[in-house]
Amino acid sequence: MASPQTQFTVLVTGGNGFLGGHIVQQLVDGSAATAVAIVSRNPKVTSDNPRLTFHAADTANATQIKAVFDAVKPNVVIRTASPHHTEPASVQQRTNVAGTQLLLQHAKACPETRGFVYTSSDSAVVPTQEPLTEHKAELYTEAHFPHAYGRTKAVADKMVQEANCDELRPAVIRIPMIYGENDPNLMPQLLSSVRKKQHKMQIGQNNKIFEFLYIKKAAEAHILAARALLEAESASNVAGEAFFVSDGRPLPLFDFSRKCYAAAGSPVARNEVTIIPLPAMQAMATLGEWAYKIFTAGTKMPQTRREAIDHLDRGSCWSIEKARQRLGYQPVADQDEAIKQSMEWAIANL
Ligand SMILES: NC(=O)c1ccc[n+]([C@@H]2O[C@H](COP(=O)([O-])OP(=O)(O)OC[C@H]3O[C@@H](n4cnc5c(N)ncnc54)[C@H](OP(=O)(O)O)[C@@H]3O)[C@@H](O)[C@H]2O)c1
Repeated sequence: MASPQTQFTVLVTGGNGFLGGHIVQQLVDGSAATAVAIVSRNPKVTSDNPRLTFHAADTANATQIKAVFDAVKPNVVIRTASPHHTEPASVQQRTNVAGTQLLLQHAKACPETRGFVYTSSDSAVVPTQEPLTEHKAELYTEAHFPHAYGRTKAVADKMVQEANCDELRPAVIRIPMIYGENDPNLMPQLLSSVRKKQHKMQIGQNNKIFEFLYIKKAAEAHILAARALLEAESASNVAGEAFFVSDGRPLPLFDFSRKCYAAAGSPVARNEVTIIPLPAMQAMATLGEWAYKIFTAGTKMPQTRREAIDHLDRGSCWSIEKARQRLGYQPVADQDEAIKQSMEWAIANL
Protein backbone atom coordinates (compact mmCIF):
# COMPACT_ATOMS: atom_id res chain seq x y z
CA MET A 1 0.00 0.00 0.00
CA ALA A 2 1.17 3.54 -0.73
CA SER A 3 2.41 5.71 2.11
CA PRO A 4 -0.31 7.86 3.72
CA GLN A 5 2.09 10.80 3.28
CA THR A 6 2.00 10.60 -0.55
CA GLN A 7 1.01 14.02 -1.94
CA PHE A 8 -1.35 14.26 -4.88
CA THR A 9 -4.02 16.30 -6.63
CA VAL A 10 -7.40 14.61 -6.71
CA LEU A 11 -10.39 15.38 -8.89
CA VAL A 12 -13.60 14.17 -7.22
CA THR A 13 -16.66 14.11 -9.47
CA GLY A 14 -19.79 14.46 -7.34
CA GLY A 15 -17.61 15.90 -4.57
CA ASN A 16 -20.59 17.71 -3.00
CA GLY A 17 -22.67 14.51 -2.87
CA PHE A 18 -23.09 12.11 0.07
CA LEU A 19 -20.12 9.86 -0.71
CA GLY A 20 -18.11 12.50 -2.57
CA GLY A 21 -18.46 14.93 0.34
CA HIS A 22 -16.99 12.40 2.78
CA ILE A 23 -14.14 11.56 0.38
CA VAL A 24 -13.30 15.26 0.04
CA GLN A 25 -13.46 15.78 3.81
CA GLN A 26 -11.11 12.85 4.49
CA LEU A 27 -8.69 14.00 1.78
CA VAL A 28 -8.58 17.50 3.18
CA ASP A 29 -8.28 16.30 6.79
CA GLY A 30 -5.72 13.64 5.93
CA SER A 31 -2.78 15.36 4.28
CA ALA A 32 -1.79 19.03 4.33
CA ALA A 33 -0.42 18.85 0.78
CA THR A 34 -3.32 17.20 -1.05
CA ALA A 35 -5.19 19.49 -3.45
CA VAL A 36 -8.78 18.52 -4.14
CA ALA A 37 -10.94 19.65 -7.07
CA ILE A 38 -14.69 19.15 -6.73
CA VAL A 39 -16.57 18.72 -10.00
CA SER A 40 -20.34 18.69 -10.35
CA ARG A 41 -22.96 20.50 -12.42
CA ASN A 42 -23.90 22.88 -9.60
CA PRO A 43 -21.08 22.75 -7.04
CA LYS A 44 -21.74 24.33 -3.67
CA VAL A 45 -18.78 26.22 -2.25
CA THR A 46 -18.76 24.71 1.23
CA SER A 47 -15.32 25.81 2.44
CA ASP A 48 -12.69 28.50 1.91
CA ASN A 49 -9.87 25.97 2.39
CA PRO A 50 -7.26 27.00 -0.23
CA ARG A 51 -6.58 23.36 -1.10
CA LEU A 52 -10.16 22.98 -2.34
CA THR A 53 -11.37 24.19 -5.74
CA PHE A 54 -14.88 23.96 -7.17
CA HIS A 55 -15.59 23.38 -10.86
CA ALA A 56 -19.01 23.51 -12.51
CA ALA A 57 -19.06 20.80 -15.18
CA ASP A 58 -21.27 18.01 -16.42
CA THR A 59 -19.19 14.84 -16.64
CA ALA A 60 -20.77 14.07 -20.02
CA ASN A 61 -19.92 17.47 -21.55
CA ALA A 62 -16.66 17.18 -23.52
CA THR A 63 -15.84 20.91 -23.57
CA GLN A 64 -16.43 21.35 -19.84
CA ILE A 65 -14.46 18.22 -18.88
CA LYS A 66 -11.51 19.21 -21.09
CA ALA A 67 -11.43 22.61 -19.37
CA VAL A 68 -11.45 20.93 -15.94
CA PHE A 69 -8.53 18.61 -16.83
CA ASP A 70 -6.58 21.54 -18.32
CA ALA A 71 -7.09 23.54 -15.11
CA VAL A 72 -6.64 20.81 -12.49
CA LYS A 73 -4.20 18.31 -14.07
CA PRO A 74 -5.21 15.71 -11.47
CA ASN A 75 -2.95 12.84 -10.46
CA VAL A 76 -6.02 10.76 -9.73
CA VAL A 77 -9.73 10.96 -10.54
CA ILE A 78 -12.35 9.62 -8.12
CA ARG A 79 -15.53 9.21 -10.12
CA THR A 80 -18.46 9.13 -7.67
CA ALA A 81 -20.99 11.21 -9.66
CA SER A 82 -24.05 9.32 -10.82
CA PRO A 83 -27.75 10.06 -11.26
CA HIS A 84 -30.11 8.79 -8.57
CA HIS A 85 -31.36 5.29 -9.45
CA THR A 86 -34.87 6.66 -10.12
CA GLU A 87 -33.71 9.00 -12.95
CA PRO A 88 -34.76 8.04 -16.52
CA ALA A 89 -32.72 5.59 -18.60
CA SER A 90 -31.46 8.35 -20.93
CA VAL A 91 -29.93 10.22 -17.96
CA GLN A 92 -28.33 7.02 -16.61
CA GLN A 93 -26.84 6.23 -20.04
CA ARG A 94 -25.54 9.75 -20.58
CA THR A 95 -23.95 10.18 -17.14
CA ASN A 96 -22.85 6.68 -16.18
CA VAL A 97 -21.76 5.34 -19.56
CA ALA A 98 -20.94 8.32 -21.82
CA GLY A 99 -19.70 10.43 -18.89
CA THR A 100 -17.39 7.69 -17.58
CA GLN A 101 -16.07 7.06 -21.11
CA LEU A 102 -15.28 10.76 -21.51
CA LEU A 103 -13.52 10.97 -18.14
CA LEU A 104 -11.43 7.88 -18.94
CA GLN A 105 -10.47 9.37 -22.29
CA HIS A 106 -9.30 12.63 -20.68
CA ALA A 107 -7.59 10.82 -17.81
CA LYS A 108 -5.59 8.73 -20.31
CA ALA A 109 -4.64 11.78 -22.35
CA CYS A 110 -3.60 13.91 -19.36
CA PRO A 111 0.12 13.30 -18.65
CA GLU A 112 -0.31 14.04 -14.91
CA THR A 113 -3.19 11.58 -14.38
CA ARG A 114 -2.13 8.10 -13.26
CA GLY A 115 -5.10 6.71 -11.31
CA PHE A 116 -8.87 6.48 -11.79
CA VAL A 117 -11.25 5.16 -9.13
CA TYR A 118 -14.84 4.44 -10.14
CA THR A 119 -17.70 3.98 -7.65
CA SER A 120 -19.76 0.97 -8.70
CA SER A 121 -22.81 -0.48 -7.00
CA ASP A 122 -24.45 -3.64 -5.72
CA SER A 123 -27.06 -2.84 -8.40
CA ALA A 124 -24.43 -3.62 -11.07
CA VAL A 125 -23.92 -7.20 -9.86
CA VAL A 126 -26.18 -10.25 -10.22
CA PRO A 127 -27.04 -10.87 -6.53
CA THR A 128 -26.31 -13.99 -4.50
CA GLN A 129 -27.05 -15.01 -0.93
CA GLU A 130 -23.65 -16.73 -0.48
CA PRO A 131 -20.51 -14.61 0.02
CA LEU A 132 -19.55 -13.59 -3.51
CA THR A 133 -15.94 -12.98 -4.57
CA GLU A 134 -14.99 -10.54 -7.32
CA HIS A 135 -13.70 -13.51 -9.31
CA LYS A 136 -17.11 -15.23 -9.33
CA ALA A 137 -19.23 -12.07 -9.56
CA GLU A 138 -21.36 -11.60 -12.68
CA LEU A 139 -22.00 -8.05 -13.85
CA TYR A 140 -25.27 -7.18 -15.56
CA THR A 141 -24.96 -6.58 -19.30
CA GLU A 142 -26.70 -4.69 -22.11
CA ALA A 143 -28.80 -7.85 -22.63
CA HIS A 144 -29.48 -8.87 -19.01
CA PHE A 145 -30.35 -6.24 -16.41
CA PRO A 146 -33.10 -5.38 -13.93
CA HIS A 147 -33.19 -1.62 -14.63
CA ALA A 148 -31.29 1.16 -16.42
CA TYR A 149 -29.34 2.23 -13.32
CA GLY A 150 -28.00 -1.33 -12.79
CA ARG A 151 -27.22 -1.76 -16.49
CA THR A 152 -25.32 1.50 -16.83
CA LYS A 153 -23.42 1.08 -13.54
CA ALA A 154 -22.38 -2.40 -14.73
CA VAL A 155 -21.36 -1.27 -18.22
CA ALA A 156 -19.19 1.49 -16.70
CA ASP A 157 -17.74 -0.92 -14.08
CA LYS A 158 -16.51 -3.22 -16.88
CA MET A 159 -15.33 -0.29 -19.02
CA VAL A 160 -13.20 1.07 -16.17
CA GLN A 161 -11.56 -2.30 -15.45
CA GLU A 162 -10.77 -2.72 -19.15
CA ALA A 163 -9.22 0.77 -19.37
CA ASN A 164 -6.09 -0.48 -17.58
CA CYS A 165 -3.09 0.46 -19.72
CA ASP A 166 0.39 2.01 -19.55
CA GLU A 167 -1.09 5.52 -19.39
CA LEU A 168 -3.79 4.91 -16.75
CA ARG A 169 -4.33 2.67 -13.73
CA PRO A 170 -8.05 2.31 -13.00
CA ALA A 171 -9.87 0.50 -10.17
CA VAL A 172 -13.51 -0.10 -9.27
CA ILE A 173 -14.93 0.14 -5.75
CA ARG A 174 -18.29 -1.66 -5.55
CA ILE A 175 -20.44 -0.43 -2.69
CA PRO A 176 -23.84 -1.48 -1.33
CA MET A 177 -26.37 0.71 0.51
CA ILE A 178 -24.41 3.44 2.30
CA TYR A 179 -25.50 5.09 5.56
CA GLY A 180 -24.12 7.70 7.91
CA GLU A 181 -23.77 11.38 8.64
CA ASN A 182 -25.15 13.69 5.87
CA ASP A 183 -27.13 10.77 4.41
CA PRO A 184 -29.78 12.09 1.99
CA ASN A 185 -31.46 8.70 1.47
CA LEU A 186 -31.55 5.81 3.93
CA MET A 187 -31.39 7.55 7.33
CA PRO A 188 -34.02 10.18 6.34
CA GLN A 189 -36.34 7.40 5.10
CA LEU A 190 -35.95 5.36 8.30
CA LEU A 191 -36.42 8.38 10.55
CA SER A 192 -39.47 9.40 8.56
CA SER A 193 -40.93 5.88 9.11
CA VAL A 194 -40.50 6.36 12.88
CA ARG A 195 -42.05 9.83 12.80
CA LYS A 196 -45.01 8.60 10.71
CA LYS A 197 -45.34 5.55 13.02
CA GLN A 198 -44.84 3.19 10.06
CA HIS A 199 -41.77 1.52 11.52
CA LYS A 200 -43.58 -1.62 12.70
CA MET A 201 -44.42 -2.52 9.10
CA GLN A 202 -42.35 -5.00 7.13
CA ILE A 203 -42.65 -5.76 3.43
CA GLY A 204 -42.18 -9.46 2.61
CA GLN A 205 -40.61 -12.18 4.73
CA ASN A 206 -37.30 -10.35 5.36
CA ASN A 207 -35.46 -13.54 4.40
CA LYS A 208 -32.83 -12.04 2.05
CA ILE A 209 -29.61 -10.63 3.43
CA PHE A 210 -28.11 -7.34 2.23
CA GLU A 211 -24.74 -5.67 2.54
CA PHE A 212 -24.45 -2.25 4.19
CA LEU A 213 -21.57 0.21 4.37
CA TYR A 214 -20.84 3.01 6.81
CA ILE A 215 -20.11 6.13 4.76
CA LYS A 216 -16.76 6.97 6.39
CA LYS A 217 -15.50 3.49 5.47
CA ALA A 218 -16.83 3.89 1.90
CA ALA A 219 -14.81 7.10 1.58
CA GLU A 220 -11.73 5.49 3.13
CA ALA A 221 -11.85 2.60 0.61
CA HIS A 222 -11.82 5.05 -2.33
CA ILE A 223 -8.82 6.89 -0.90
CA LEU A 224 -6.96 3.64 -0.20
CA ALA A 225 -7.51 2.65 -3.84
CA ALA A 226 -6.40 6.08 -5.10
CA ARG A 227 -3.20 5.96 -3.06
CA ALA A 228 -2.47 2.37 -4.10
CA LEU A 229 -2.83 3.27 -7.79
CA LEU A 230 -0.29 6.06 -7.50
CA GLU A 231 2.54 3.82 -6.26
CA ALA A 232 4.04 1.41 -8.80
CA GLU A 233 4.56 -1.30 -6.17
CA SER A 234 0.97 -1.41 -4.88
CA ALA A 235 -0.61 -0.49 -8.24
CA SER A 236 0.17 -3.87 -9.80
CA ASN A 237 -2.27 -5.49 -7.32
CA VAL A 238 -5.00 -2.91 -7.77
CA ALA A 239 -4.97 -1.57 -11.36
CA GLY A 240 -7.67 -3.07 -13.57
CA GLU A 241 -9.34 -4.68 -10.53
CA ALA A 242 -12.74 -4.41 -8.87
CA PHE A 243 -13.25 -4.58 -5.09
CA PHE A 244 -16.30 -5.37 -2.98
CA VAL A 245 -16.39 -3.08 0.05
CA SER A 246 -18.94 -3.30 2.88
CA ASP A 247 -19.27 -3.48 6.67
CA GLY A 248 -18.64 -7.23 6.27
CA ARG A 249 -21.82 -7.81 8.26
CA PRO A 250 -24.75 -8.63 5.96
CA LEU A 251 -28.21 -8.51 7.53
CA PRO A 252 -31.85 -8.85 6.46
CA LEU A 253 -32.97 -5.34 5.47
CA PHE A 254 -35.64 -4.99 8.16
CA ASP A 255 -33.21 -6.25 10.86
CA PHE A 256 -30.89 -3.38 9.86
CA SER A 257 -33.85 -0.99 9.80
CA ARG A 258 -34.95 -2.10 13.28
CA LYS A 259 -31.43 -1.43 14.62
CA CYS A 260 -31.86 2.12 13.28
CA TYR A 261 -35.35 2.43 14.83
CA ALA A 262 -33.96 1.26 18.17
CA ALA A 263 -31.13 3.81 17.88
CA ALA A 264 -33.83 6.46 17.31
CA GLY A 265 -35.50 5.38 20.58
CA SER A 266 -38.25 3.32 18.91
CA PRO A 267 -37.37 -0.38 19.22
CA VAL A 268 -39.73 -2.87 17.56
CA ALA A 269 -40.29 -6.30 19.12
CA ARG A 270 -40.77 -9.26 16.75
CA ASN A 271 -44.40 -9.73 17.86
CA GLU A 272 -45.19 -6.07 17.01
CA VAL A 273 -44.25 -6.45 13.33
CA THR A 274 -47.02 -6.27 10.71
CA ILE A 275 -46.04 -8.07 7.50
CA ILE A 276 -47.31 -6.84 4.13
CA PRO A 277 -46.85 -9.61 1.55
CA LEU A 278 -44.30 -8.73 -1.15
CA PRO A 279 -46.63 -9.52 -4.11
CA ALA A 280 -49.29 -7.19 -2.66
CA MET A 281 -46.77 -4.33 -2.45
CA GLN A 282 -45.48 -5.11 -5.95
CA ALA A 283 -49.02 -4.94 -7.34
CA MET A 284 -49.74 -1.68 -5.49
CA ALA A 285 -46.49 -0.12 -6.74
CA THR A 286 -47.27 -1.13 -10.34
CA LEU A 287 -50.79 0.30 -10.08
CA GLY A 288 -49.39 3.52 -8.60
CA GLU A 289 -46.94 3.91 -11.47
CA TRP A 290 -49.69 3.41 -14.06
CA ALA A 291 -51.97 5.89 -12.30
CA TYR A 292 -49.19 8.51 -12.28
CA LYS A 293 -48.43 7.82 -15.96
CA ILE A 294 -52.08 8.35 -16.90
CA PHE A 295 -52.94 11.30 -14.65
CA THR A 296 -49.67 13.26 -14.98
CA ALA A 297 -49.01 12.28 -18.63
CA GLY A 298 -45.72 10.72 -17.50
CA THR A 299 -44.38 13.94 -15.99
CA LYS A 300 -44.26 12.63 -12.39
CA MET A 301 -43.56 9.31 -10.70
CA PRO A 302 -44.90 8.07 -7.35
CA GLN A 303 -42.67 7.84 -4.27
CA THR A 304 -43.10 4.05 -3.99
CA ARG A 305 -41.58 2.58 -7.15
CA ARG A 306 -42.00 -1.00 -8.35
CA GLU A 307 -38.25 -1.26 -8.82
CA ALA A 308 -37.59 -0.40 -5.16
CA ILE A 309 -40.02 -3.11 -4.02
CA ASP A 310 -38.44 -5.70 -6.35
CA HIS A 311 -35.06 -4.79 -4.85
CA LEU A 312 -36.24 -6.09 -1.46
CA ASP A 313 -36.28 -9.59 -2.95
CA ARG A 314 -32.74 -9.46 -4.39
CA GLY A 315 -30.34 -9.00 -1.45
CA SER A 316 -26.56 -9.26 -1.68
CA CYS A 317 -23.75 -11.05 0.11
CA TRP A 318 -20.07 -10.33 -0.52
CA SER A 319 -16.61 -11.40 0.52
CA ILE A 320 -14.46 -8.33 1.28
CA GLU A 321 -11.22 -10.30 1.57
CA LYS A 322 -9.72 -8.88 -1.63
CA ALA A 323 -10.19 -5.29 -0.39
CA ARG A 324 -8.68 -6.23 2.98
CA GLN A 325 -5.65 -7.88 1.39
CA ARG A 326 -4.90 -5.58 -1.53
CA LEU A 327 -6.12 -2.20 -0.29
CA GLY A 328 -5.59 -2.66 3.44
CA TYR A 329 -9.33 -1.95 3.92
CA GLN A 330 -10.72 -2.55 7.42
CA PRO A 331 -14.51 -2.49 7.87
CA VAL A 332 -16.13 -0.46 10.63
CA ALA A 333 -15.16 -2.00 13.99
CA ASP A 334 -18.63 -1.63 15.54
CA GLN A 335 -21.56 -1.46 13.11
CA ASP A 336 -24.05 -0.87 15.95
CA GLU A 337 -22.11 2.18 17.10
CA ALA A 338 -21.93 3.49 13.50
CA ILE A 339 -25.72 3.07 13.19
CA LYS A 340 -26.22 4.87 16.51
CA GLN A 341 -24.05 7.81 15.43
CA SER A 342 -25.80 7.98 12.05
CA MET A 343 -29.26 8.04 13.65
CA GLU A 344 -28.15 10.65 16.17
CA TRP A 345 -27.00 12.80 13.25
CA ALA A 346 -30.39 12.26 11.51
CA ILE A 347 -32.40 13.19 14.61
CA ALA A 348 -30.32 16.31 15.20
CA ASN A 349 -30.37 17.48 11.57
CA LEU A 350 -33.59 16.33 9.89
N1 LIG B 1 -26.32 5.96 -2.03
C1 LIG B 1 -26.18 4.63 -2.01
O1 LIG B 1 -26.71 3.91 -1.12
C2 LIG B 1 -25.32 3.97 -3.08
C3 LIG B 1 -25.30 2.57 -3.17
C4 LIG B 1 -24.49 1.97 -4.14
C5 LIG B 1 -23.73 2.75 -5.00
N2 LIG B 1 -23.79 4.11 -4.91
C6 LIG B 1 -22.96 4.92 -5.82
O2 LIG B 1 -22.21 5.83 -5.05
C7 LIG B 1 -21.98 7.02 -5.78
C8 LIG B 1 -22.33 8.22 -4.94
O3 LIG B 1 -23.65 8.13 -4.52
P1 LIG B 1 -24.27 9.24 -3.55
O4 LIG B 1 -25.39 8.60 -2.81
O5 LIG B 1 -23.18 9.91 -2.82
O6 LIG B 1 -24.89 10.25 -4.61
P2 LIG B 1 -25.38 11.76 -4.43
O7 LIG B 1 -25.37 12.19 -3.01
O8 LIG B 1 -26.65 11.88 -5.20
O9 LIG B 1 -24.24 12.58 -5.19
C9 LIG B 1 -24.07 12.46 -6.56
C10 LIG B 1 -23.37 13.71 -7.04
O10 LIG B 1 -23.11 13.57 -8.43
C11 LIG B 1 -23.28 14.84 -9.05
N3 LIG B 1 -23.69 14.57 -10.43
C12 LIG B 1 -24.76 13.87 -10.87
N4 LIG B 1 -24.80 13.88 -12.20
C13 LIG B 1 -23.71 14.57 -12.62
C14 LIG B 1 -23.20 14.91 -13.89
N5 LIG B 1 -23.81 14.56 -15.02
N6 LIG B 1 -22.05 15.63 -13.94
C15 LIG B 1 -21.41 16.03 -12.81
N7 LIG B 1 -21.84 15.73 -11.59
C16 LIG B 1 -23.00 15.01 -11.50
C17 LIG B 1 -24.34 15.57 -8.24
O11 LIG B 1 -24.08 16.96 -8.16
P3 LIG B 1 -24.76 18.03 -9.17
O12 LIG B 1 -26.22 17.86 -9.06
O13 LIG B 1 -24.23 19.36 -8.68
O14 LIG B 1 -24.23 17.70 -10.52
C18 LIG B 1 -24.15 14.98 -6.84
O15 LIG B 1 -23.36 15.84 -6.04
C19 LIG B 1 -22.77 6.89 -7.07
O16 LIG B 1 -21.89 6.48 -8.09
C20 LIG B 1 -23.77 5.77 -6.78
O17 LIG B 1 -24.11 5.07 -7.96
C21 LIG B 1 -24.57 4.74 -3.98
